[in-house]
Amino acid sequence: MNYRNIIEKGCKILKKNSIITANIDAELLLSISLKLSREKILLNLENELKQYEISKYISLINRRKKKEPISYIVGNKFFWKYSFNINKNVLTPRFETELLVEEILNIFKQSNYLNVLDVGVGSGCILISLLKEKANWKGTAIDISKLALKTAKINAKIQQIENRIKFIKSDIDNFYNNKYDLIVSNPPYISKIEYNKLDLGVRDYEPQKALYGGIDGIRIIEKIIKQSKYILKNNGLLAMEIGLGQHHKVSKILEKNGFYIAKTIFDYQKIKRCLIARKIK
Ligand SMILES: C[S@@+](CC[C@H](N)C(=O)[O-])C[C@H]1O[C@@H](n2cnc3c(N)ncnc32)[C@H](O)[C@@H]1O
Repeated sequence: MNYRNIIEKGCKILKKNSIITANIDAELLLSISLKLSREKILLNLENELKQYEISKYISLINRRKKKEPISYIVGNKFFWKYSFNINKNVLTPRFETELLVEEILNIFKQSNYLNVLDVGVGSGCILISLLKEKANWKGTAIDISKLALKTAKINAKIQQIENRIKFIKSDIDNFYNNKYDLIVSNPPYISKIEYNKLDLGVRDYEPQKALYGGIDGIRIIEKIIKQSKYILKNNGLLAMEIGLGQHHKVSKILEKNGFYIAKTIFDYQKIKRCLIARKIK
């Protein structure tokens, strides 16, 4: 069997299992299993595969057909300017979260020294991207998941910035470590109803503690706001991603806790996706 035939076979299996990205996934998974670039594969479609290569490819196709996200099969995901190691212990970084990174860098264009806390660091995609842009910023990464912190540490090491980040296993509820200029977070913000309706590729594979934000979706967001009141410096910024339809409620909680809404960021679907708030009291 050659590259062309096996891609067609993989694609057929994926289509039969309603994978919308069947064509591209079938090619990508061959490139992963053979450790060859996609270009090399497409230029050598008549090359024959060995039996063990066919078996390896079909095992990846079988994972994908059960809707396992490509990022977990491949083991990485590109975010901002870097490839991040990804596994089942961390959320796959999303495009929308790059908007938060972009806006923070815009606001702090002139700030050379900043002490940043990332609440729920996951793979480390937000904090690592920020610190790569700003050579003198320091970071603290907290997460309730020991295994997520381990992944973030690996990613920081790959980017050679592990000595600029403190990694602490902690719930935001019990975290009083220091005073920060900036707190960033992409918290779990999916409500109970939304969680039950999630695409199976997300619900069955991505960690529940990275997604589920309590019955109304804003339980963790509220905890972060309440705690940020104590651990942000005066005039410090809290920059958070939020879910669909949460903007009004979250703004009210922020105002009640002494924050002023400095900016709302819309995503590509014109949804109010991130909030940046300044601590004024
Ligand atoms: C939506 S994921 C975000 C991961 C990463 N920052 C990103 O943007 O891809 C949320 C993360 O928050 C962590 N988390 C959930 N509840 C937490 C809490 N109470 N305190 C600290 N971290 C928490 C989860 O383990 C998960 O890694």
